[in-house]
Amino acid sequence: MLGLVLFWGFFAGACSRAPEETGQIPTLAVAPAAKAGEMIFQTRCFVCHGRGGKGDGPSSSGLGATVRDLTNSTWQDSTSDETIRNVIRNGATAIGGTAAMAPNPDLSNAQIQSLMLYIRSLRKE
Ligand code: HEC
Repeated sequence: MLGLVLFWGFFAGACSRAPEETGQIPTLAVAPAAKAGEMIFQTRCFVCHGRGGKGDGPSSSGLGATVRDLTNSTWQDSTSDETIRNVIRNGATAIGGTAAMAPNPDLSNAQIQSLMLYIRSLRKE
């Protein structure tokens, strides 16, 4: 019986110490904006643009247009953040390109901004 009391005492003590030991109460991690963009990209853009953004997604052939390699540094340098947001919202026809890249009118400004940041992060040397 004494053993049981001691056991519970130890157990309760361990529990009451736990918050200090773990440092802080866990909070929901706030994903960086580009991370949110990555999730959208890997849901609705990768089919054409490919998982890595190189333009080699499963639906990239037969579009009648070449899917832009988003990792290409020459293209990255030649375009602006505003142009990237414009293409995502209004489709490639908005910048004189092909209708194969459709508009995404349902995306919020924040979602489009996060996609733009993600696309910027795909740049290769
Ligand atoms: C149906 C296939 C398809 C899907 C889905 C698609 N794209 Fe594209 N995308 C293209 C093609 C094709 C081009 C090349 C357009 C051109 O050069 O005329 C392109 C071009 C682009 C460009 C470069 C525009 C430029 O400056 O030349 C960006 C940025 C882009 N897409 C972002 C996205 C994002 C973000 C998504 C998802 C929300 C997406 N695309 C979904 C086919 C697609």
